Amino acid sequence: MTIYNFSAGPAVLPKDVLLQAQAELADWQGSGMSVMEMSHRGKEYMGIHAQAEADLRELMGIPANYKVLFLQGGAHLQFSMIPLNLLRGKASADYVNTGEWSKKAIGEAKKFGGVNVVVDNKDKNCSYVPAFDTWQRDPNAAYLHYTPNETIGGVEFNWIPETGDVPLVADMSSNILSRMLDVSKFGLIYAGAQKNIGPAGVTLVIVRDDLIGQVPTGTPTMLDYKTHADNESMYNTPPTYGIYMAGLVFQWLKKNGGIAAMEQANIAKADLLYGAIDASNGFYNCPVNLADRSRMNVPFTLKDAALDSEFLKQADQHGLLQLKGHRSVGGMRASIYNAMPLAGVQALVDFMSQFAKRHG
Ligand SMILES: Cc1ncc(COP(=O)(O)O)c(C=O)c1O
Repeated sequence: MTIYNFSAGPAVLPKDVLLQAQAELADWQGSGMSVMEMSHRGKEYMGIHAQAEADLRELMGIPANYKVLFLQGGAHLQFSMIPLNLLRGKASADYVNTGEWSKKAIGEAKKFGGVNVVVDNKDKNCSYVPAFDTWQRDPNAAYLHYTPNETIGGVEFNWIPETGDVPLVADMSSNILSRMLDVSKFGLIYAGAQKNIGPAGVTLVIVRDDLIGQVPTGTPTMLDYKTHADNESMYNTPPTYGIYMAGLVFQWLKKNGGIAAMEQANIAKADLLYGAIDASNGFYNCPVNLADRSRMNVPFTLKDAALDSEFLKQADQHGLLQLKGHRSVGGMRASIYNAMPLAGVQALVDFMSQFAKRHG
């Protein structure tokens, strides 16, 4: 039986990447060392690190005036580092509140300065993206932060806010590398690695260089982007093995048509799954507004919640793993990141249809 893993993160990785890592685990390319055993200052690891950055720059078309940082601390630490580094003496920043992850970013930012919540979507249980013309923006904001894909709610922006001179900051933890993107529209993009990049433990930050180097006095060295930018993310020991794995994922993406091809595949997978939900005559339901449905995280409920545990049990028996919804919303959630093949979504859809027939 083929196993398909629908975890929201840490999540499925490309099988080819895992097999390559396995082949190289104890002896990386004849060096006699595992990547885990290499000095981060040695030529072997330095090469792996530089290649990972170069491949990411190529994949995303990252302009030369942006720094690519491989940090630690997860997206959660960025919730603090962003206000600390980007407020730059200004009184407040704009935040868009579209769900659980936005809320966490807002809560943390309040510890550093003023937060102007420009809009929220609580009126409809966080199930949609509020139209741009309803946002109450502050023209003097230090930056505007938003969450292009709410991993828990399954709400995704299919457009980029135009904020003019106010730098745009995006938490792309759960949709980075899944769709084409014009990086030059952003001041800063960040993402925890454990969904579309690689294993947990690496946090990617892509930041425009004019935004770096204006932290308040007393800022801890490790929380200043400048420290990492000036030292190629090697001020301290970087998460070397995670960066190596991310590098393998970037090479896998390049071999498979890059982000444009991923986007097409992701559209096909999402269409297949939402199509099945919508064609189930109400047996399954997705609470998210049609135009704002995430291509990465598909939450859905069963008409009869009493069937939830039976659904999960039978799904497991069919090799369809980790479909339980987030504890805060219940129901199911299928995360279908880049590494999830169409065949996995087809297997899920086939199972859902059989389950509905048996229990409808
Ligand atoms: C959109 C988003 N932001 C932030 C996080 C938190 O990331 P981390 O656990 O890496 O801090 C997650 C998921 O885990 C997420 O999906």
